[in-house]
Amino acid sequence: MDSALSSVRAALVAVVFLITAAAVSAHEGHHHASPSPSPSGAPSASPVGSGAVTASSVPPSTTAPAPSASPSPAPFHLDVREALLSHLHNKIVHFPLGLGLAAAIILLVTPRWPQYEPAGRALLVAAAVFAVAAYFTGDAQMPPFHGTPLAGIAERHEQLGTATAITLCVGAALTWVRGAKRWLWLYALLLIVLLSLTGFLGGVLAHTEF
Ligand code: HEM
Repeated sequence: MDSALSSVRAALVAVVFLITAAAVSAHEGHHHASPSPSPSGAPSASPVGSGAVTASSVPPSTTAPAPSASPSPAPFHLDVREALLSHLHNKIVHFPLGLGLAAAIILLVTPRWPQYEPAGRALLVAAAVFAVAAYFTGDAQMPPFHGTPLAGIAERHEQLGTATAITLCVGAALTWVRGAKRWLWLYALLLIVLLSLTGFLGGVLAHTEF
């Protein structure tokens, strides 16, 4: 039991670290290069680390128009339907990640507090359902990456995402198998690793210029 508790402690520290790192990198904004030119006519994105001159490297005094000359920007029109339905994968993935990590933490503590077992099962089932949705929405967002420098990362992310979805579905079923209960802590650690790797590569896909 002592060794199980120290595994739990180590896993919790790892989870907190991974979640913090993921949150920091995931909110740096999307950086896909856009094929459409910027309003000034210059390309709107430059490759990461290319050393290309960007607007921010030019002294403001040489580029910024006088304050009185700048036209006020058009107000942003929010198309709710478009906002909800576009990039569905990027929205849905938060659910298998969050629910799956919560399920893993609960599976890790159930040897000590078995009363939480039904909650762990419910979280796993919910995470599995959203992972299936993540699979289909992810597949629909793959074409723009074909033939780009990120194609390899996209393929690896697809493999890991598929493995994660299958692992979540199998895990949900395993919670009903009596003989599997004593190994669920090991399953939970595997799940944390898969979710972290999948989420990490997904973040690279979504936030890297190419
Ligand atoms: C449980 C399974 C999966 C998880 C947890 C997951 C997670 C993620 C995450 C966290 C991102 C970055 C989202 C953002 O920062 O906005 C992402 C992006 C992406 N994922 Fe997944 N993913 C999964 C499965 C898949 C699968 C199976 C595919 C392909 C068949 C896929 C294709 C993509 C693509 C193409 C992107 C980039 C979307 C963009 O253009 O921004 N994902 N994924």
